[in-house]
Amino acid sequence: MRHLISIADLSKREILELLNIAIRLKEDRKKGIFEEKLKNKTLAMLFELPSTRTRISFEVAMLELGGNALYLNWNDLQLGRGEPIKDTARVMSRYLHGIMIRARKHETIVELAKFSSIPVINGLSNLEHPCQVLADLLTIYEQKGLNAKITWLGDGNNVCNSLILLSAILGFEMVVACPKGYEPSLLSKALEMGGNVRIERDPKKAVRNADVLYTDVWISMGQEAEKEKRLRDFKGYEISLDLVKFANDPIVMHCMPMHRGEEISDEVIESKNSVIYEQAENRLHMQKAILLNFLG
Ligand code: CP
Ligand code: NVA
Repeated sequence: MRHLISIADLSKREILELLNIAIRLKEDRKKGIFEEKLKNKTLAMLFELPSTRTRISFEVAMLELGGNALYLNWNDLQLGRGEPIKDTARVMSRYLHGIMIRARKHETIVELAKFSSIPVINGLSNLEHPCQVLADLLTIYEQKGLNAKITWLGDGNNVCNSLILLSAILGFEMVVACPKGYEPSLLSKALEMGGNVRIERDPKKAVRNADVLYTDVWISMGQEAEKEKRLRDFKGYEISLDLVKFANDPIVMHCMPMHRGEEISDEVIESKNSVIYEQAENRLHMQKAILLNFLG
């Protein structure tokens, strides 16, 4: 029994295996082939924060694999009234076959996993978003192959942390363009893992030769109080059509939800370079691969 808490929990071989499974499942779905490999299995989806893509893609993934999914809102459970995580984990382990959890604090997910005898999957924390970047690997592979140069623009946040670790594991070259003070907190870990990641302050220099431009919101969930300061600090780091021209006919990615006119312009979202909606679709195919691997 294993958990998926950090993308660094997986080896290169395991990640490439997930990629292969996701590719096959995507083709199967197009042909209308569905295998009920998770029949009689139930996944709990525990959310302390809102979600559109993670929630829907995990739920549909479970249903299409023949299993069940329970959407559990934190505040509807006794958790919301202070029941300890460790009791919740022990009880859930007796009813279910897996837990996907989105929590404010990464430590909450670590604590849940510590007391769970069933697999725990991180569906986003303040530190990482491993399922997102696994799905992004499918998008990058489909569009640019496995030798892509990736430039991240904006906040070195949870998604960025997982992406630099993924790049370190797979050997992608990555540049993070961010203002001072917004570097990804797992940068030193990525470098220790042998990652080819560097920080660049100038967005134009950062995107030179990039095959992939990737951005995310400047104000993540839980950072609403810092909105004004962040909007000021990130000025100049938005993906505009002008910036896209400095790169190598790149694909433009965003994990969504997007704030048009902040980190990305509407023209870029609507341009031929954008693969953002395909990227969102790929969450479904990769979620299935993850579920088969961890719950199967
Ligand atoms: N990208 C992502 O995780 O989206 P949701 O917050 O809608 O799940
Ligand atoms: N960085 C964003 C990602 C949302 C999917 C957040 O944490 O809010």
